[in-house]
Amino acid sequence: MKKLFFCLSLLISSFVARSQNQYNIIPVPQKLTPLTGEFVWEKTTTIVSTSEFKDVANLLNEQLNLVSGSSKKVIVKEKGLASSAIQFVKNEQLGDEAYTLKASSKQVIIAAKTAKGAFYGVQTLLQLLPTQVFSEAKVEGIKLAIPNCTIEDAPRYVYRGLHLDVGRHFFPVSFVKKYIDLIALHKFNTFHWHLTEDQGWRIEIKKYPKLTQIGSIRKQTIVGRYGSGKYDGKPYGGFYTQEEIKEVVAYAKTKYVNIVPEIEMPGHAQAALAAYPELGCNPDKIYQVHTTWGVSEDVFAPREETFTFLENVLTEVMALFPGQYIHIGGDECPKEQWKESRFCQDLMKREGLKDEHELQSYFIRRIDKFITSKGRKMIGWDEILEGGLSPNATVMSWRGEEGGIAAAKENHDVIMTPGSYLYLDHYQADPKTEPLAIGGFLPLEKVYSYEPAPKELTAEQQKFILGIQANVWTEYMETSNYIEYMVFPRACAVAEVAWSPSASKNYADFTKRLKTHVERLGKLKVNYAKGFLSTK
Ligand code: ACM
Repeated sequence: MKKLFFCLSLLISSFVARSQNQYNIIPVPQKLTPLTGEFVWEKTTTIVSTSEFKDVANLLNEQLNLVSGSSKKVIVKEKGLASSAIQFVKNEQLGDEAYTLKASSKQVIIAAKTAKGAFYGVQTLLQLLPTQVFSEAKVEGIKLAIPNCTIEDAPRYVYRGLHLDVGRHFFPVSFVKKYIDLIALHKFNTFHWHLTEDQGWRIEIKKYPKLTQIGSIRKQTIVGRYGSGKYDGKPYGGFYTQEEIKEVVAYAKTKYVNIVPEIEMPGHAQAALAAYPELGCNPDKIYQVHTTWGVSEDVFAPREETFTFLENVLTEVMALFPGQYIHIGGDECPKEQWKESRFCQDLMKREGLKDEHELQSYFIRRIDKFITSKGRKMIGWDEILEGGLSPNATVMSWRGEEGGIAAAKENHDVIMTPGSYLYLDHYQADPKTEPLAIGGFLPLEKVYSYEPAPKELTAEQQKFILGIQANVWTEYMETSNYIEYMVFPRACAVAEVAWSPSASKNYADFTKRLKTHVERLGKLKVNYAKGFLSTK
């Protein structure tokens, strides 16, 4: 009897602990105070919003209507609080991406200065509800209850990015939109869309139709690991029309996600050269879209014709993408062809450039000047430091943090994306148990342990670290299903590093919250990696 009583009390206490522990939010908010009681979305509950936040309120309303089978409408009210409602109100005192959320048994109030802040409030609110709220259809008998609490939240970094390489493998608009949904759910604010590669040019450019007619299709693809010497013999291609790009940009806007387009130069240009060989160092060469992985020797020649071409391409790109940043690549540009080119060597003499790194810097500076003249900002991978950093460049530090540290010391903005912490193409578990990947070893815990503020920088210099980004290179990711497996849940850890205060980082607590969070990902039909579930 005593034993039974003991077991019963254990059961009750664990149930109470679980029911008190319903604040499984990722990324964890800056400040959360649990309160007793709950708010329940009843038949009579309404959503009330100022007109400024109406679109955000509608997003919430649509999801709650969907899962509860109701057909309520958002009530627009500029002033005054209603009872029994979820309310969106303005608070001028908050930061641009900040929000507060107060849930009491009577009402839930989300306050923000901007619609974007209110949107993040909604992401948190959804994570306070039962995980079935993420379902794609009506859930019979769902109780939409929110545990009472007060939350004050704002991001640690202003730039929180997730990248996708659609050059090595192409992914349709439907998947890109799903990816954007997942970006927004995790309070990332940037989608870095890597649109051109040696292995495929993926964006329609009206002035240069051959970029997609020729450059988007490779005649076959290497099978297995780089260097296998085996090919599948099957043409592979795909590209986004400008109409599709506009559709994605408009969609991302509704989720408060900015898209940073990347057009690679002067390297990773083989697909472009297959279409327009006159822009290469050897116009007589028969260039083909690259069929294997790795870095191609075929790079743009720094001729006037090339600059005209790239400026025309960038003009169309800037018309499609309204955000401030334009990424120009700049990584992994082999210099052999420039060394062997009479034109390049003469140009270097004329311009007083002492080596090919300075020639690359000359190339990037010209592009920087053009992008800056259009009121935009140029981003490049950290190789753009070699030969001298262009005046307005933002640096994406990928070969470790050294490039980012050097750039910050020169008062340049930096986005940290070091390969050893934030390359989600690396293995997440023992390669013997995993599908083929590029290499490396980056388990969830290591991603979570990343600290973006280098000790080498002073407090003043730290301000140049705008944030972080995880990169997803797709040489070995042929399907969207496999992308999801590689990206989640590691991107959840990236989101917490980017958003949450470093003082609140706690891996054990994160994985506990993650166990609930992946139920949400399951409802959203995300093929997340389940390995972490079998660890403690
Ligand atoms: C890169 O990973 N080549 C930027």
